[in-house]
Amino acid sequence: MFERLLGAILCLLVAFLPAPGARAETSPLEPDPFWNVPDIGSLPDDENGRLVRRGRDLITATYAHIGPNVPDVQKRYAGNNLACRNCHLDAGAKRFGNPLWGLIDQFPRYDAESGQSIGIAQRLNSCMTRSMNGRPLAETAPEMRAMVAYIEFLSVGVKPGQILTGYGAGDMPELDRPADPVRGASLYGQNCAMCHAPDGSGLRRLSAEPDFGYMVPPLWGPDSFNNGAGMNRLGTVANFVHDNMPNGTSYVMPRLSPEDAWDVAAFVVSQPRPVKPDLAKDYPDLLQKPADTPYGPYADSFTPQQHVYGPFGPIREEIARLKASGTVPKR
Ligand code: HEC
Ligand code: HEC
Repeated sequence: MFERLLGAILCLLVAFLPAPGARAETSPLEPDPFWNVPDIGSLPDDENGRLVRRGRDLITATYAHIGPNVPDVQKRYAGNNLACRNCHLDAGAKRFGNPLWGLIDQFPRYDAESGQSIGIAQRLNSCMTRSMNGRPLAETAPEMRAMVAYIEFLSVGVKPGQILTGYGAGDMPELDRPADPVRGASLYGQNCAMCHAPDGSGLRRLSAEPDFGYMVPPLWGPDSFNNGAGMNRLGTVANFVHDNMPNGTSYVMPRLSPEDAWDVAAFVVSQPRPVKPDLAKDYPDLLQKPADTPYGPYADSFTPQQHVYGPFGPIREEIARLKASGTVPKR
């Protein structure tokens, strides 16, 4: 309680301090520390208001609407009982909790993973087929329209080209050694297992129904995200955990040291999870593949092990050399 209060006070302080590096003159590309998440309660009960609220429900309780156990077989889009909000914290409103705000004007944009320009619906479907281990929704599906309407609503008040502080999950310094899953296992026991369970299977909601999702989501195993998900990359998990876990932590006051976050992330990514077929087709241009993508093929000659646990610096240097020399990697 006290910690929460202190966190809230610090958040307020940070919100009213100028962003680091902020200059006196305003440019549209400057981070805007004053942007607030628009208030969904203030939307009227009209067609758009209902669509946005439905979108929020789909994001906070995905399993109850399009999960693998919903009664209507046609609606079983997700392959696991996660919710988008498990990774897009506070229903997509949390800084460095993979927020979904201020995104609309960033799409369509080039996507290195598929090698083409994609719209917001395709980006959402990438999480459907990887993070949710499921199948894509049609762009015209009512659930897709609702989720996109909610994401659009989360962009209200953000000017085109405006960069907000807090996208993604953070960008802490990397280790110059491989992250250590053995050290991570004991950190997991001390800091995570009480919520996510010693076997990583999380904690189901208490309910007579089998499809009521999780109080605490699983981190690995058959009902988790698959191996093609962004959350299966060491850098994503490490930053996410550093800025958000144990649940309730904020980037303002992280609980784990960066080193501990890298090692506990190494333990999480070393665990079994569903396998996505055809991952070898990702990143048609291998020189654009992020160094911590945990599956091949790769343009460089580093071991698969190093692509999972790092260190990633030497890999990026090699990639930069290949790019500079104009090499076109064979697949
Ligand atoms: C297991 C964690 C996880 C779940 C569950 C998940 N996502 Fe994501 N999502 C991510 C991560 C991590 C990223 C950041 C991109 C990356 O690193 O690949 C992301 C990126 C996105 C983006 C693009 C954000 C940007 O900044 O460009 C959208 C939109 C999105 N997700 C929507 C959804 C929706 C809608 C759902 C539910 C149907 C969902 N996600 C479920 C982890 C998840
Ligand atoms: C106090 C309970 C608690 C503790 C301790 C905790 N978590 Fe979580 N974690 C949660 C909850 C709850 C969520 C989902 C948040 C939401 O839906 O708002 C979550 C979400 C996550 C996610 C993203 C969702 C997913 O399914 O992958 C990851 C990764 C994660 N936690 C890792 C960790 C790690 C690693 C630790 C230990 C350093 C940890 N957590 C400690 C409760 C906890």
